[in-house]
Amino acid sequence: MTKASIEAAQKKFGAVVEEQLKRVEEMKKSGAFIDYAKLSPVIIGICWGDGIGEFISRNAQEVLTHALKEEVKRGKIAFKEIKGLTIENRVKHKKAIPDDILEELKACHIILKGPTTTPQAGDPWPNIESANVAMRRALDLFANVRPVKIPREGVDWCFFRENTEGAYILGSKGFDVGEDLSVDFTVATEQGSERIIRMAFDYARKNNIDRVTVITKSNVIKTTDGRFSRAAKRIAKDYPAIECDEWYIDIMTAKLIDPARRKDFKVMVMPNLYGDILTDEAAQLQGGVGTAGSANIGTRWAMFEAIHGSAPRMVKEGRAQYADPSSMIRACAMLLRHIGYPQKAQDVEMALEVCGQFEKKVTITGRDTGATGGEYTKYILSWVDNPKLKSRWESEVFNVK
Ligand code: IPM
Ligand code: MG
Repeated sequence: MTKASIEAAQKKFGAVVEEQLKRVEEMKKSGAFIDYAKLSPVIIGICWGDGIGEFISRNAQEVLTHALKEEVKRGKIAFKEIKGLTIENRVKHKKAIPDDILEELKACHIILKGPTTTPQAGDPWPNIESANVAMRRALDLFANVRPVKIPREGVDWCFFRENTEGAYILGSKGFDVGEDLSVDFTVATEQGSERIIRMAFDYARKNNIDRVTVITKSNVIKTTDGRFSRAAKRIAKDYPAIECDEWYIDIMTAKLIDPARRKDFKVMVMPNLYGDILTDEAAQLQGGVGTAGSANIGTRWAMFEAIHGSAPRMVKEGRAQYADPSSMIRACAMLLRHIGYPQKAQDVEMALEVCGQFEKKVTITGRDTGATGGEYTKYILSWVDNPKLKSRWESEVFNVK
C-alpha cells in the first residue's frame, strides 16, 4: 500500500466527518412538525416510480382519490403528479433524483411514491444511488414507520426504523483503498438517535403501549450501536410508565418467528439496516412484503411507499399488472392517518384485512392465476364503501372460530 493511497483515504474520511458534523448542526436547528390542519390545500405529490411501481401506484391513487374526493372538492387537498422518477430519467441525469424532480417533490407536503429500481453493480444500469435513500436524506425523512399486524394472532407491531443514518447514509461514500481493501461507513449521532427513539416512545405513550423494545447489536458494534443503546436508556427515563428493553438483532429475527413470544413485542425501534431486514421478515409473516406499507416522516415532509422494490423480474415476465397493490394501499392508509383522517385510514385498513386475510373472494397471486391489481383494488374499494365493513372486520378478528 503506498503512502499516497493512505493519504487519499484519510482525506476522504476527513470530508465524511466534516459533512456529518454539518448535518448534526442542521439537526440541532430543525423545527417542529408541520401542522396539516393549518394548510390549505395540503399538496399530495404522486410519484409513479418504475417497474411494478407504475401499476401499483395507479391502484393506490384510485383508493386515495376515492377517500379524499370531498376534501379535493372543498380545496383542502390537491394532488400533483410527479413524473420522471424513473430509472431511465435518473440514469439520463446520472442522479438518484434529478434536480427538477427534487424541486417538485419539495413543493409538495406529502408524497406517495411507487417503488423505484435501485441498481447494483453488474446491472444493465449505471450503479447510481437508490432514489429512496436519496429522498429520505434530501427531505430529512428520519423516521421510517412500518406497522405489521396479524390480527388473528394478536400481533400488532410498529417498527420505528432510523432512516437517515446507520450503514445507509454513507453507503455511496465508501471507497476502495489500493487493490485489496474496501471501506464503508456507518454513522450514529446523538440527535439522529434521539429523534427516532423519542418518536417511538411518544407513539407508545399515545397508544397506551407499555413497552418499547430497542434493537441493536451493541455488544459487538460498540460505538454506533452503543450510542443508540445509551440514548434509548437515557430517553426511557422520561417515560417512566413505559418499560424499555434491549434485544440484539440476531435473536430478534428468531423471536419474530416464535409464535409463543412474538405478540408480546409492540413498539420496536432500531438503526437503519436492522430495520430494513427485520421489517421484511415481519411483513412476510403478515402475508408477504406486498402487504406492508411504509411511512417516511420528517418535520417538513412525509413520504409514503411500499416496503418492497420495483420487482423487475415480474415486469420482465410480463406480470406487472398482477402485482399486489396492497402495500401501496396500506401506505395510503398511513398517509390518511398522518394528515388527520384516522377514520378514513381505518376503513382502508379494515378493507385490506377483510379482503386479504378473511373473505378472500378475489385473490391475487402475482400471476394470471389471480386477479390483476386493478381488479383487486376494485374489490378493496367495494369493502371500503360497504356499511358492513366494521362488523365484518370485528367478527373476524374477535370471534376466531
Ligand atoms: C426499503 C427498501 C430500500 C431500503 C431500498 C429500495 C433502497 O429495501 O425501503 O426497505 O433498503 O431502505
Ligand atoms: Mg427493505
